[in-house]
Amino acid sequence: MTSSVNAMTQGNKDDSKLIMPTGEIAQFPILDGTLGPSVIDIRSLYGSTGSFTYDPAFTSTASCESKITFIDGDKGVLLHRGYPIEQLAEQSNFLEVCYLLLEGELPTQENYKSFYDNIIQHSMVHEQIRNFYSGFRRDAHPMATMVGVVGALSAFYHDSLDIHDPRQREIASHRLIAKMPTIAAMAYKYSVGQPFVYPDNALGYAENFLHMMFSLPCEKYKVNPVTASALDKILILHADHEQNASTSTVRLAGSSGANPFACIAAGIACLWGPAHGGANEAVLNMLREIGHKDRIPEYIKKAKDKNDPFRLMGFGHRVYKNYDPRAQVLRKACHEVLNELGHKNEPLLDLAKELEKIALEDPYFVEKKLYPNVDFYSGIIFQAMGIPSSMFTVLFALARTVGWIAQWKEMIEDPQMKIGRPRQLYTGYGPRDFVPLNKR
Ligand code: SDX
Repeated sequence: MTSSVNAMTQGNKDDSKLIMPTGEIAQFPILDGTLGPSVIDIRSLYGSTGSFTYDPAFTSTASCESKITFIDGDKGVLLHRGYPIEQLAEQSNFLEVCYLLLEGELPTQENYKSFYDNIIQHSMVHEQIRNFYSGFRRDAHPMATMVGVVGALSAFYHDSLDIHDPRQREIASHRLIAKMPTIAAMAYKYSVGQPFVYPDNALGYAENFLHMMFSLPCEKYKVNPVTASALDKILILHADHEQNASTSTVRLAGSSGANPFACIAAGIACLWGPAHGGANEAVLNMLREIGHKDRIPEYIKKAKDKNDPFRLMGFGHRVYKNYDPRAQVLRKACHEVLNELGHKNEPLLDLAKELEKIALEDPYFVEKKLYPNVDFYSGIIFQAMGIPSSMFTVLFALARTVGWIAQWKEMIEDPQMKIGRPRQLYTGYGPRDFVPLNKR
């Protein structure tokens, strides 16, 4: 990793120059990536000027170098290791994309078979993990359960906690990818008071999740292949997305040397927020609240009102100022799944399409480049699959686990890695003396 940064530093571009108030000129190299904006390497800024940069939500900050995912927000481009998301969604499958994200190349048939077998054969969790669930209320949000149970995995897998051992990193990575569907399905079963269902290794990854979600001891359950295929595609679309909030959380947690299970639990916690992965659940709640297309103008007005905290859930994105390419694939998949599953006239989908149409013609949304994002359609498909809205973000976390792990692995393998420790602009009191209580 360092070598490519050094190579970039030796680029021919002129350094950027910063003229300080003292008149001093500080110079900083420009680093060029393969695609996307160049960066100004300001690592020496504080040492050479005594000043920090100020970028609270990191809107102009590159926190790392990465080779995993590239996004062009203006063109609506998303590449995983160079492959367009549209091609991966249409031609690949989730476990193959997992291999691609982790290893950097599409697997050969032999690589794929051994990776597939390894993941499928590690889908069970330690039997005692079942006890964690009974400590939660039945009506606990499944994301609360996920944070708790995933964070506790390090208490069971002591043989894959040494982050400096490549083999232990690989074992932990595969365990997390393999066990997330089981843990997620158990969270659902617990919430509805049904017995846990063991994984069936004869089933594919997405199929097995649906089996663990919906099988019952008292009757045969056959996974609908259309649903399984649509879910596999949705998992691909949610697998990784550059340095989003939850991925940055995982990287920051991992930079302290925390074990991968704890880092992924931190990512799950961050993803839960409605501004991030929690938006898919919020979209469904919003559509239900709107209820009828005649009420759409009222909600568009609320979304535009600066004094109203209401946001149009599923719209807008920090990076995409064009259509989120994942939303386009999901929109198409939505139609297919609903038709296949017999929901030909799903009122929520009709309402979503009408909302999308009105919003995209509204000057406010056009000027601010607010387009539907990945969360706008996913919830409608999940609902058609019979998945409750409280589980939507859990599925997002299930899919994103491979992205979090791939980014965490890339950081750990970077010889230049050090603990992340941002600074601040301090605007509090200067030094002052303590006043005893009887004198206040
Ligand atoms: C995900 O980062 C990732 O990659 C995330 C993700 C991933 O795969 O990991 O893509 C997944 O999190 C998708 C986003 C899901 N969230 C939502 O759908 C929630 C609704 N969206 C907004 O909260 C918002 O658009 C964000 C949080 C997604 C983006 O926020 P930004 O980039 O900080 O944008 P902003 O708040 O600065 O908005 C710019 C302007 C503001 O108006 P002004 O202050 O300029 O007048 O647009 C407005 C905002 O008020 N705006 C919206 C809006 N989103 C932004 N107004 C109404 N409805 C919205 N949805």
